[in-house]
Amino acid sequence: MTGLSIQDLSMRFDLPGGGAVQALKDVSLDLKEGELLSVLGPSGCGKTTLLNIVAGFLAPTEGRMTLNGHEIHGPDAER
Ligand SMILES: Nc1ncnc2c1ncn2[C@@H]1O[C@H](COP(=O)(O)OP(=O)(O)OP(=O)(O)O)[C@@H](O)[C@H]1O
Ligand SMILES: [Mg+2]
Repeated sequence: MTGLSIQDLSMRFDLPGGGAVQALKDVSLDLKEGELLSVLGPSGCGKTTLLNIVAGFLAPTEGRMTLNGHEIHGPDAER
């Protein structure tokens, strides 16, 4: 399938002093090639974390992402 597919994406940041921040939980979306998606929400809701994961800069705690059927595992010029 073409486009971006995100399934059950979660991201938890473990803090150095103990504890953790659940930045994303169970995010799923499908975006076809050429579609435009705006992600809106209050400060701290996880927008930048989501973009960093899609860019491949951060590895999610859970979930799976594909672009044009290929799994995203790191940064790439196509993103
Ligand atoms: N490297 C990190 N270590 C620990 N917590 C983090 C880290 N990066 C982000 N967080 C936390 O994850 C949550 C989501 O942060 P994020 O920066 O994705 O929010 P945002 O929606 O982009 O906010 P803003 O609108 O202010 O840019 C916040 O609680 C933030 O403090
Ligand atoms: Mg941000």
